Amino acid sequence: MSVNESSSKLIFFVNGKKIEDENPDPEWTLLYYLRKKLDLCGTKLGCADGGCGACTVMVSIYDHTDKKPLHLAVNACLAPVCSMHGLAVTTVEGIGSTTTRLHPVQERIAKSHGSQCGFCTPGIVMSMYTLLRSMRKPSYSDLEVAFQGNLCRCTGYRPIIEGYKTFIEDWESNRTQNNSNACGMGEKCCKVTGSGCTEKLDDKPGNTFNAKDFIPYDPSQEPIFPPELALTSKYNEERLVFKGANVTWYRPTSLNELLQLKNEHKNAKIVTGNTEVGVEVKFKNCLYPIIIMPAQVEELKEIQITDTGVTVGASVTLTDLENSMKNVIRCFPIHKTRIYKEIVDMLYWFAGKQIRNVASVGGNIMTGSPISDLNPIFMAAGVVLNFKSVKSSRKVVMDESFFTSYRKNMALPEEVLVSIDLPFTEENQYFKAYKQAKRREDDIAIVNMALNVKFTENNKISSMKLSFGGMGPVTMMAINSCRQIVGKQWNDDLLHKVYSGLLSELNLDPSAPGGMIRYRQSLTLSLFFKAFVQISDELSANFSDRGTLDDRDKSAIGGFEHSIQKSSQYFNIPINPQSPIDPVGYPIPHVSAAKQATGEAVFCDDMPLMNNELFLALVQSTRAHANILSIDPSEALSMAGVVKFFSASDLDPQKNIFGIVVRDEEIFVSKTVTSQGQIIGAIVAKDQAIAQKAAKAVKISYEDLKPIITIEDAIKSKSYFPGCPKTIIKGDVDAAFKNADHIIENEFRMGGQEHFYLETQTSRAVPKKEDNEMEIFCSLQHPTEMGKIISNVLGIPINRINMRVKRVGGGFGGKESRSMLLVVPVALAAHKLQQPVRCMLDRDEDMIMTGNRHPFYFKYKIAVKDNGKIDGAIIEMYNNGGYCYDLSAAVLERAMLHCENAYYIPNLKIVGYMCKTNLPSNTVFRGSGSPQGMLLAENYIRDIAVKLNMDPIDVTYLNLYEEGQTTHYNQTLTHCTLKRCWEECLMKSDYVQRKEKIEQYNKDNKWKKRGICILPTKFGVAFTVKALNQGGALIHVYTDGSVLLTHGGIEMGQGLHTKMIQIASRVLNIETSKIYISETATDKVPNTSPTAASVSSDLNGMAVLNACTIIMERLTPYIKENPTGKWEDWILSAYSNCTSLSAVGYYYHPHTGYDLDTNIGIPYNYYTYGVGCSEVEINCLTGDHRVLRTDIVMDVGESLNPAIDIGQIEGAFVQGYGLYTMEELIYSPTGTLYSRGPGSYKIPGFNDIPKELNVSLLRGAPNPRAIYSSKAVGEPPLFLAASVFFAIKNAISMYRKQNNASLDFNLSSPATVEKIRLACEDHITEMVKEQKTSTPWNIIP
Ligand SMILES: Cc1cc2nc3c(=O)[nH]c(=O)nc-3n(C[C@H](O)[C@H](O)[C@H](O)COP(=O)(O)OP(=O)(O)OC[C@H]3O[C@@H](n4cnc5c(N)ncnc54)[C@H](O)[C@@H]3O)c2cc1C
Ligand code: FES
Ligand code: FES
Repeated sequence: MSVNESSSKLIFFVNGKKIEDENPDPEWTLLYYLRKKLDLCGTKLGCADGGCGACTVMVSIYDHTDKKPLHLAVNACLAPVCSMHGLAVTTVEGIGSTTTRLHPVQERIAKSHGSQCGFCTPGIVMSMYTLLRSMRKPSYSDLEVAFQGNLCRCTGYRPIIEGYKTFIEDWESNRTQNNSNACGMGEKCCKVTGSGCTEKLDDKPGNTFNAKDFIPYDPSQEPIFPPELALTSKYNEERLVFKGANVTWYRPTSLNELLQLKNEHKNAKIVTGNTEVGVEVKFKNCLYPIIIMPAQVEELKEIQITDTGVTVGASVTLTDLENSMKNVIRCFPIHKTRIYKEIVDMLYWFAGKQIRNVASVGGNIMTGSPISDLNPIFMAAGVVLNFKSVKSSRKVVMDESFFTSYRKNMALPEEVLVSIDLPFTEENQYFKAYKQAKRREDDIAIVNMALNVKFTENNKISSMKLSFGGMGPVTMMAINSCRQIVGKQWNDDLLHKVYSGLLSELNLDPSAPGGMIRYRQSLTLSLFFKAFVQISDELSANFSDRGTLDDRDKSAIGGFEHSIQKSSQYFNIPINPQSPIDPVGYPIPHVSAAKQATGEAVFCDDMPLMNNELFLALVQSTRAHANILSIDPSEALSMAGVVKFFSASDLDPQKNIFGIVVRDEEIFVSKTVTSQGQIIGAIVAKDQAIAQKAAKAVKISYEDLKPIITIEDAIKSKSYFPGCPKTIIKGDVDAAFKNADHIIENEFRMGGQEHFYLETQTSRAVPKKEDNEMEIFCSLQHPTEMGKIISNVLGIPINRINMRVKRVGGGFGGKESRSMLLVVPVALAAHKLQQPVRCMLDRDEDMIMTGNRHPFYFKYKIAVKDNGKIDGAIIEMYNNGGYCYDLSAAVLERAMLHCENAYYIPNLKIVGYMCKTNLPSNTVFRGSGSPQGMLLAENYIRDIAVKLNMDPIDVTYLNLYEEGQTTHYNQTLTHCTLKRCWEECLMKSDYVQRKEKIEQYNKDNKWKKRGICILPTKFGVAFTVKALNQGGALIHVYTDGSVLLTHGGIEMGQGLHTKMIQIASRVLNIETSKIYISETATDKVPNTSPTAASVSSDLNGMAVLNACTIIMERLTPYIKENPTGKWEDWILSAYSNCTSLSAVGYYYHPHTGYDLDTNIGIPYNYYTYGVGCSEVEINCLTGDHRVLRTDIVMDVGESLNPAIDIGQIEGAFVQGYGLYTMEELIYSPTGTLYSRGPGSYKIPGFNDIPKELNVSLLRGAPNPRAIYSSKAVGEPPLFLAASVFFAIKNAISMYRKQNNASLDFNLSSPATVEKIRLACEDHITEMVKEQKTSTPWNIIP
């Protein structure tokens, strides 16, 4: 094929518009093209890894046979733009907008409060939209599948599910049957019950949105598919060649052309879905100069049923594979399709929908990943692979010799995989496949297994194939284990033979990559056992020797029961508002929700590029502790488009030092790096790709030094930050221990947590031409402090630096102090070059350098009376602070002030250390140190319960704080609602009755257990540093009556601007629509405190109140003069009479300020209280778990906005759930972070939230110490997720009790699948011994 006969013009449609590009670069992704070439910034970049779904778009292909378009949700971050030829792309901008009409999908997520920061929203909207375009009546299961590939870090998913349930057929038909006016409350709707809306709300759940108001969904109103693509198939038939600077892209149209191309370019990369190659190129620095995309080669796309099975083309997508397998299963007898059934089941857990829509069967095989989900099935099934080259074609059985080493197989370079023959099964043949991952959905396997067993007539085994993923560098086959049981009966004897076979055959080296050695080995036995039980069950009809299996063993079979997510929200709305337009206390939606749902909301990197704008990329340390011997940027500087390299040598050493509390780190490291990810330099270039490439080309040579990584290392070397230890002593601790009836001594660990805000750190600096003025647009939580640091580094007064924050795509503490790592180099580069400079960190860069929640290690001794009352405690705590001081002291302080949680301990000594290690500097994260400190408290409460054989709820209640009691830092509790929350949660959760049911369940089920836990929280609200407890506001009223409001807090999804507008609306007595907040800027409100510690509504709300009150005082004469006039009349009168219509508001808490060193002062303004109860089910064989139900009662005072507050409670709960169960930071012993993207770091997904989630706001508990009697809510509910952790521990105890193992055992946080399984001691864990090694693959920091 010659290039001349091919087209080199890329033609596709975006939102109905034809795009023709004469010169597309094969290195561009669709996402890059949409955002940078077409300026369609609604589609977001969250990870570039296919793992978050923020970039979801709909790609439509016209099926010329069926004469209809097919719609697929696709990750634009992995889709090469060149693969779009002849296709139609729809982005969030293409379906609706606030200026024309919102699409119902956009409207419903906005109105149901499903968008907080909004960064994930366009992706979620597009997943839902594509689902609706693909099927007219989706079911709840379709909805679940559609969202498998989308993540949200803010909402906790419940409101999104609730809003989108209104599209599913059940909901629609209920709505029609019950009452056309009924709302989304279904049968609870007052119109259905006939009670009418006038009834008191007290005992009924409320509704944070009214589905009655939703625009009906009418599929016929959707934009039409581009007629040109429907009329002609010419684009599909075109042979394409796109030549870029580094890569040439071929799209052949026949198998012959494909084979010839592969013959000519043996090293060419075949790309089908690009879900593997795209990740290699982006994150593994792979460059493939020649790409061949066989999308138009028919032979690779065909699916054919043959006499012996089904032949599937190598390019068939996983979605098409699933659909075709389902069809075959429907048409053939069950016994023939046993392999296909397992393929379908496995595909449910394979990645997310967006990946499955493009990823190919051949791509999965040829990648040869040792944790591939399909390869174990294919190998156990003995599939045949059909390879072709120009010279030959051959059939290869996929057996143990196919993979030759890690990601390598026996295919020749010129060969192409054309198809795969998947055999039918026989009547006496059984096939099972399982996967175990950290998170059930959209996660790669830790271990997976496939078993293919054939029986003779008399139920003896005639052959068996058993394959495993995750047990070596390639998919492994347990050949010997299978060989030795041929001819044997299927019974207990066989089981034990296979166990011992697997233990010797799949023995992992203790330092094998992937870690979790004992768990992985246990899984091989557990998964086989599952298959054994399941096959025994299926065989039971004609098979007598079932060994010792009984009915309780059936719990080993299958996953968790499937059910529709249920929820309720209990709250009050004001009965007698002062004015009909007063919005305070009403569940009004987030003010930007609609814009977020349409993609119109502008995030920092969405801002249009200026003409001369440059891009910055960081050069990061790849060593944890090393002297820098040399830095050589010459290769980078020689690259076209590179403008400048900055390093320590560009700064006066004094200016190169910065820090938030203590100035102890360098902007650019000059001599010695003390952590991986530290910034050594920065490249500035004309475009982002060049900058990033050049940054990687900067050569650094190091002399390694010994790093300190773990808390234990730090303790050994006494590596602490100055000021340690910190100590608090209250009462007579010695006497308490002397008089104790029982002394409990233990230790406890808790891991860190990555913030995983969906929008990574972003900054853009624009120098002005005059007097060193500079505007800095950024995504961060503390603009004032960042401005101060920049001012110091640049030697420019703060009044020239305007820090502007429009909105932040999630912060959670991660953008409070560590933003300086990016914002300062960007400002410095812009200042030095006098050109605008921007940088948005890639997800891996962000995760490597910005630090996490602090891991903690605790040692404790508790003095207890016989009745369970705590009399004294000695607590030693250590946090892992990383390489610099940052906010580690604040985190430690919070942990020290919250390590009694909600319990009165009269005699208490706490000693705290901040460990200095060679990790990235850890920092604050929602709740600061309190989720760590409080977890400790709940751990010792349960230690006491075990020791005294008491129910933990009795120990809890006995020790719960009461009104008037004083904490260990001398603060007396007033308006304490703890016991009210406790009683209400006990009652609402039906704890006592459910506990009985759980006991029965546990008796009936041997391999699955349920557990329950209820626990309280008490969260102190205020900054302990007095100066931070102030807020500011600025209000301008314009002559048309419109109001521009600015205040000191930033909007990061928590609804702060919405609440501020509600307050202003009440005071000014005008509709919220008249009030606008544009941004937060330091030239409007100076000297602001960070938006942190949950106090921003309290502080800025009072300042807004103050500013609005001033305006109203000035307007009073005009109102009196014209009492029947309107707001606009009074404003005009005031203006005409030269009355200022601009006011500054200010507020500070006079009562707070605390010194930990002296334990003097009052740290908190008040407390937010709550209680949570969770029930879980665990799979004791695999370590998997499911949260069945959670009930939360939270005292948030008189809520300013119940929908926002409930959103904060649910979002915090799910984030806490991730913290305590699945989010695990994985470090190598030398300080390399392995978990650096959504592929390896798992935050909860849609299907992880409790199957039933009930949230109640405590009624009748006004808070006298904050704006309109409200309370802070951002952080306090997070800890209630610890109820899941202890419910899991409770379930493990039930299993241990059954197996006569001790109930006195430790479970550290997070309770991962690995820890749950290994704590479930049984005959399997007993067989798999812990192997010690001095060179583990990973360590716990
Ligand atoms: C977010 C995410 C989640 C994932 N989850 C899972 C998971 O749960 N389980 C799992 O197993 N994998 C998972 N993967 C890996 C990946 O999606 C699969 O391996 C997928 O099947 C690869 O198919 P592809 O078409 O995208 O491959 P591509 O990236 O296009 O190609 C992969 C490799 O196969 C070669 N190749 C492709 N077709 C042929 C052919 N016809 N002949 C010869 N060589 C060929 C290519 O040259 C390349 O080396 C995930 C990936 C991502 C990004
Ligand atoms: S940005 Fe594409 S999946 Fe995350
Ligand atoms: S709203 Fe989903 S990530 Fe913020």
